[in-house]
Amino acid sequence: MTQITLPRPDDWHLHLRDGAMLEAVLPESARHFARAIIMPNLVPPVVTGAQAAAYRERILAGLPAGMRFTPLMTLYLTEETDPADVAAAAAAGIVTAVKLYPAGATTNSASGVRDFDKVRGVLEKMAEIGLPLCVHGEVTDPAVDIFDREAVFIERVLDPVRRATPGLRVVMEHITTKDGVDYVRSQGEDLGATITTHHLIINRNHILVGGIKPHYYCLPVAKRESHRLALVEAATSGEARFFLGTDSAPHADPAKESACGCAGCFTATNTMPLLAHVFEAEGRLANLEAFASRNGPAFYRLPVNSETLTLEKTDTATHWPAKIFGGAGPVTVFDPGFPVFWHVTP
Ligand code: DOR
Ligand code: ZN
Repeated sequence: MTQITLPRPDDWHLHLRDGAMLEAVLPESARHFARAIIMPNLVPPVVTGAQAAAYRERILAGLPAGMRFTPLMTLYLTEETDPADVAAAAAAGIVTAVKLYPAGATTNSASGVRDFDKVRGVLEKMAEIGLPLCVHGEVTDPAVDIFDREAVFIERVLDPVRRATPGLRVVMEHITTKDGVDYVRSQGEDLGATITTHHLIINRNHILVGGIKPHYYCLPVAKRESHRLALVEAATSGEARFFLGTDSAPHADPAKESACGCAGCFTATNTMPLLAHVFEAEGRLANLEAFASRNGPAFYRLPVNSETLTLEKTDTATHWPAKIFGGAGPVTVFDPGFPVFWHVTP
């Protein structure tokens, strides 16, 4: 097959930032994706319905003329989050999900949750109204090795929280381990998982062998090859509970190429060609539609997009810009390290 047409895909986990960075990266997502779940980890974070509504307006105002894109907003869960504000924002159609960052787990997560008893009321309200909780699944205990933090989170935090809040609908964001894949498969339909583009392509060797590669550093950090293979198997399986969330997370190059570099891979520009490459290599190109276009809407109880996107394979390697330039400085586009022959048709 040299051509494939899908319902227009969505990105169920995206960082757009704000101001000049938003302006630079928004067209990169809007070019291929119809909708995206927008992460709320701005500085300061998006914690109230009113802030989410204002952020949505800034995103829509930044959309270049002629581009269509629907931002699906999230609230950043803090120990002070008011269940009534969450319920009102959901009822008004302002927010599609709430995001849980364990405090200190990643970029701008200082206001996240330390004591889960303090968010019990919000989680119970969310279970009642069916509002999904998007979870950054890593423990922050300094005694836990960074490569084990996802597996330990499932056991110590996620499973107990889900048991304590029956009916809570949860998305394990950006799973990076076989443990994550196995946990999702062992649970019922109220648990889904997003998988990023970059975690389907790199393992920890790519970050560390032959010199440190700051543009491959993200959180959760890429794990060993056996975990990457488990992610590829899950993503390409077509199973309903695995769907695309790129976690495309732009940082200007100086912030990445630094003695203390930021976490994040920027994949908005080339995700769809990269996914076509990965799915074809598995002999499962036909399941790209489930992963990128159908499973996410089904989990979020939204319609599949009626517009389409076509990918084509050609004999010459596809080119994308190595960097995106904007007022916030250059942002390096994720480099898979191999040629890709798929491109999105104009
Ligand atoms: O790599 C990451 N970058 N992981 C996250 O969880 C946050 C994100 C960001 O905001 O830069
Ligand atoms: Zn993220």
